[in-house]
Amino acid sequence: MFRKTTPGIFQRSEPQMGQCRATSVLLLFALTASKGLQSPVGGKEAWDYVEVRDGAHMFWWLYYADSQFVNYQEFPLVMWLQGGPGGSGTGFGNFAEIGPLTLDLKPRNSSWVQAANLLFVDNPVGSGFSYCDKPDCYATNVATVASDMLTLLKRFFAKVDEFQSVPFYIFSESYGGKMAAAISLELTKAIAQGEVKCKFAGVALGDSWISPVDSVMTWGPYLHAISLLDDHGLNEVNSAAEAVKHAVEQQQFQKATELWSAAESAVEQNSNGVNFYNILSQTAEDTWASSEGKNLISLQALRHIRPLQSQSLNELMNGPIREKLRIIPENVTWGGQSDEVFRYMAGDFMRPVVNIVDQLLTAGVNVTVYNGQLDLIVDTIGQELWVQKLKWKGLPAFNKLSWTALDDPTSPGVTGAFVKTHQNFAFYWILKAGHMIPSDQGPMAFQMMKMITQQV
Ligand SMILES: *[C@@H]1O[C@H](CO)[C@@H](O)[C@H](O)[C@H]1NC(C)=O
Ligand SMILES: *[C@@H]1O[C@H](CO)[C@@H](O)[C@H](O)[C@H]1NC(C)=O
Ligand SMILES: *[C@@H]1O[C@H](CO)[C@@H](O)[C@H](O)[C@H]1NC(C)=O
Repeated sequence: MFRKTTPGIFQRSEPQMGQCRATSVLLLFALTASKGLQSPVGGKEAWDYVEVRDGAHMFWWLYYADSQFVNYQEFPLVMWLQGGPGGSGTGFGNFAEIGPLTLDLKPRNSSWVQAANLLFVDNPVGSGFSYCDKPDCYATNVATVASDMLTLLKRFFAKVDEFQSVPFYIFSESYGGKMAAAISLELTKAIAQGEVKCKFAGVALGDSWISPVDSVMTWGPYLHAISLLDDHGLNEVNSAAEAVKHAVEQQQFQKATELWSAAESAVEQNSNGVNFYNILSQTAEDTWASSEGKNLISLQALRHIRPLQSQSLNELMNGPIREKLRIIPENVTWGGQSDEVFRYMAGDFMRPVVNIVDQLLTAGVNVTVYNGQLDLIVDTIGQELWVQKLKWKGLPAFNKLSWTALDDPTSPGVTGAFVKTHQNFAFYWILKAGHMIPSDQGPMAFQMMKMITQQV
């Protein structure tokens, strides 16, 4: 499937059910209203499924860069990978973070589509609109995730061959970063062997689950320093974290995932339910009492996938969006298999991939780490800890550098981020942002993307 989307596509796909009509009209309105407003909504799009293994169907959705002044082929191609595992890039990343439209189907001011061709892929299989025909086709480790994505990328670049010569970047968030690292390494090898034609230019790891233990071990000190734990709470959180660390050291990764869940409960109970994704935005829904009676792995799926599947996003994806796409099988529900995705990956979840980042750096791949100041689940101090574990030869020189302050693009004179770059490694500290950086600091995230893709 490959479509040039024109405003007419919505007129052609008449809503089947009365209840969808209002939203379809809204879509149409968003398109009409945006005409001439230099908005990204009228851009070209394409989407399709790739069967990456027998019974394993992966969904991708491409938005062409949309600028009045510059041809799309002069912009990079950016693939966005969501976390979880089980989160959907075509849903959350697209409508809640960087895509051309917001959840209300209004044009997004800081959409990355203004300076990049955007490729969303629902991975691992079972996330978003991707689905498994058979129970045994879910990925159980990051190696399978990477080989599935390689299959998808081979097919994608063969089919949409105009992107073979366009710089290709992988951007990611959370668990997406762990997958992005592994995918980048496989892609680098595949390109060297001539198996896939693409101009891979770098990977950006956002609030990424590269070294889970370093995240867990720093929750206590971080929360204690900012008045979200008392001394008693600090002790409880630290001992729960020690138990996780012990299990990881024993290579008991399934057990480590369960203990990690217990460590999160200790955080919730002692902080009165701090928001793991942004320590300053606790809401009434961030209640830890709702976790009662769940087994630990299900609880984790609930905690970490549910925020990516709000009711409004669910209604949008399973309503007007699936109608627009027209290729989603009837019995596939957006997000319907995401808990399974998480459960099947539970034995791999706590395994670190610092060594993979090291291999990328040695192979000369441009690697960027970016992290939100207010993120707890993958806090910045934990990221700094694993960076110090790199065997990368440039590390001592990187450590000696001072960072550079970046202005918040919307408030000149106000610091929005800090950055430090040495050779093929860069680290961005994004201020006033939590785990989902583009949702919290859209203009800053957009600016960072342009810097990483060498547009400024
Ligand atoms: C987009 O920017 C315009 C003009 O700066 C502003 O009025 C509007 O509220 C912004 N929209 C969103 C969704 O942030
Ligand atoms: C959907 O239905 C088809 C045909 O009945 C079946 O083969 C397939 O397994 C179903 N897929 C899912 C995800 O349930
Ligand atoms: C990596 O980044 C540097 C700039 O920091 C750039 O000169 C180089 O071309 C990039 N490498 C690739 C493969 O794009």
